Amino acid sequence: MNRKIFATAILICAVIFLSSAKSFAAEFELVSYSAQVKLQWLANTGMPEAQKILNEIGTANIYGKKNLKDYKRLEKLNGIYQELCYASTVDFVKKNDYKNVMDIGGGYTPRAVVMVNDGRKYIGAELTAVALSATKIMPKFINAQYRTNLSYENVPVEDRQAMISTADRFSGKLCIIENGLQIYLTRERSDAMFSLIHEILKKHGGCFITSDFVTKDMFKELATAVYGQDSAQTLYNETKSMYENLFGAKLFDDTFTSQADALNFLKAKGFKVQQIPLVADTSKLYSLKGLDAQQVEKVKQVCAKNYLWVLTVE
Ligand SMILES: C[S@@+](CC[C@H](N)C(=O)[O-])C[C@H]1O[C@@H](n2cnc3c(N)ncnc32)[C@H](O)[C@@H]1O
Repeated sequence: MNRKIFATAILICAVIFLSSAKSFAAEFELVSYSAQVKLQWLANTGMPEAQKILNEIGTANIYGKKNLKDYKRLEKLNGIYQELCYASTVDFVKKNDYKNVMDIGGGYTPRAVVMVNDGRKYIGAELTAVALSATKIMPKFINAQYRTNLSYENVPVEDRQAMISTADRFSGKLCIIENGLQIYLTRERSDAMFSLIHEILKKHGGCFITSDFVTKDMFKELATAVYGQDSAQTLYNETKSMYENLFGAKLFDDTFTSQADALNFLKAKGFKVQQIPLVADTSKLYSLKGLDAQQVEKVKQVCAKNYLWVLTVE
């Protein structure tokens, strides 16, 4: 009898161990890939800060050029898209001189380096795998006197205790940045995240910024600007399917049916939403090099759109 109980207990432990190992592996792949792919698009624009971080991670070309038949166009377009997301958040923080930045799902973004070397405090709120590797890699790019201003923590965005206690480590109002995370969240998880963001902003003041609510429109408009309207949907689909193939999971790009749907959701949650232009000065963008004058002009029109959403709480 005792042997039977013992054998059953061993079996149960084995099942629990195997299933948790499997879900950790799945999470590890997803998180490390999505953060690295984003960094890779940015590095391919020629941005030195992104290139240095990518070299330090040491796994260049994660999605494999040869698997993408449209690679040249995808590389150009994703580089522009990622650089506009990046530049819009950096410009906003600098212009409004936020001293505190909490970057949720921040990955290995070079804006951490730029923010901290500028004297700001930055916490990358991430899942375990990225938090651990970013803790090793990112301080290498920070000037010695500012190193204590940078940290990466294990903060799943739906985890109240982790989110609130991380925000409590700042003194003064904070700018919460979110860029490229929403596509991995179900509507329920988005809902949980925005409830916590509301609670944090109510307590600390400041704002939450993102262009994630306009991802699909912005991406297709950039594709139209560079490659014409006929290519826009195809290039969006190819990028989406590249990510889905790589991660083996569905992306949640239909959580909100339209910008109006997203605005209603945010208003119902108690946010005030201001929509401001993405990027004012395009002269320093790496990704626009190589475009002709007409393409640049059209990309600038997208940059002038009110695609950066600034959420505040009264
Ligand atoms: C596409 S990357 C974006 C990286 C970064 N924001 C940037 O601009 O380069 C998405 C990031 O979200 C993180 N992530 C995914 N689910 C998360 C969750 N539930 N809580 C916190 N971070 C999460 C992943 O680890 C990944 O680094």
